[in-house]
Amino acid sequence: MTALPKTFRVKSFGCQMNVYDGERMAELLGASDMTPASDGEDADLVVLNTCHIRERAAERAYSEVGRLRRDDGSRPMVALAGCVAQAEGAEASKRSKMIDLVVGPQAYHRLPQMIAEAATGLRPIDTDMPAIAKFGGLPRRRRSGPSAFLTVQEGCDKFCTYCVVPYTRGAEISRPWDDIVDEAQALIDGGAREITLLGQNVNAWRGEDGKGRAGGLHSLIRAIALIDGLERIRYTTSHPADLTDALIAAHGDVPKLMPYLHLPVQSGSDAVLKAMNRSHSADSYLRLIERVRAVRPDIAISGDFIVGFPGESEKDFCDTLAIVDAVGYASAYSFKYSPRPGTPAASMEGAIEAQVMDERLQRLQERLRAHSLAFNRATIGKDLTILLDRRGRLPGQMIGKSPWLQSVFVETKASIGELVDVRITHALPNSMGGVLRRSAVAA
Ligand code: 5AD
Ligand code: SF4
Repeated sequence: MTALPKTFRVKSFGCQMNVYDGERMAELLGASDMTPASDGEDADLVVLNTCHIRERAAERAYSEVGRLRRDDGSRPMVALAGCVAQAEGAEASKRSKMIDLVVGPQAYHRLPQMIAEAATGLRPIDTDMPAIAKFGGLPRRRRSGPSAFLTVQEGCDKFCTYCVVPYTRGAEISRPWDDIVDEAQALIDGGAREITLLGQNVNAWRGEDGKGRAGGLHSLIRAIALIDGLERIRYTTSHPADLTDALIAAHGDVPKLMPYLHLPVQSGSDAVLKAMNRSHSADSYLRLIERVRAVRPDIAISGDFIVGFPGESEKDFCDTLAIVDAVGYASAYSFKYSPRPGTPAASMEGAIEAQVMDERLQRLQERLRAHSLAFNRATIGKDLTILLDRRGRLPGQMIGKSPWLQSVFVETKASIGELVDVRITHALPNSMGGVLRRSAVAA
């Protein structure tokens, strides 16, 4: 039997959905008589909100657990949460005696109860995947930064052959319309000016609107755009198969929907895309991009890429470079393929040598950097509206996001949460700098 924790820390790894889950867990613990540990202070409870997508994810999570032991030999109560918790389940408690409870991404609304159980010496595990029950068990959102995340959809039915998400996050499920609109309103009341709708396959969101009509993500975006005080809407991550005409149309006529689309392609080779079970070809992907650009010519396209998928030839890889040139990505994430146990690709033949993989990643990243730089340079001399979201390192310097999601550095007395107009004066591949024009909207 140990004392109930009074202070806590939630450490999130990985994607934006984990950042969102981490915030919700912190709100839940805050509402159940615990306070966040201040910087440098030991917390009584540490929640490790883990990510399973990168290589050796479980090993990394266990070493993170090990690091929680303090110099005097004592340790906090440890909750293993997130996708590693989901994947490892009971195995986690067996492998590390330091783990007091294991909670999957669909069960964290039960954290307070599980913490109470852990304090009695039990080691509770909950990796059930009920259909989106957790949201009903979370407190209403109160305070928010200027840019907030809102999970609307979870899980994935696409089963790309390299990916663990369909196994760790389960089948695609959509949160109900009213819950989402209500949470958006609460976030805006709490200070949010930008909302990013999140989902592993966010554009697979399906539901009934307030009037009982079936709708897709586009109808949700249109409804949220009507809320006063909200200035910007984004959504991520999308699958090409679910990019509907109606969603494309929204990019053309919803001014609050920002000109940015994260649409992973993974490879430019049809043979590799087929082996990945991606359900689109290089050509069908390019046609989609053309249609989006027809309604929103200035849109920034962002993507994910995997190099060195089993069987990828030099020609396949060159097709990837070719699609990068054809799209002209504004930003991108690129990875070396690494096998995930239990996925179909893990037992495919034709593994690519590490050296070839390294060399391809380097060539791809050079090409992607050149496109990002070209995209950013094209904004030099233009006035962009920036949503300030943090302070810079230099005195008086603030950093905010452009409509295209680049970070922009500017000297201004305006505060976090304000929208300011900035004339862009210089550009790097990942950021831009400029000078203040005038305050567009007061905070
Ligand atoms: N190996 C390398 N990259 C992967 N991703 C997902 N699974 C793997 C894997 N096994 C990448 C994909 C995906 C992004 C979130 O992570 O590009 O879009
Ligand atoms: Fe993974 Fe593919 Fe689903 Fe994306 S679409 S989460 S890569 S299985």
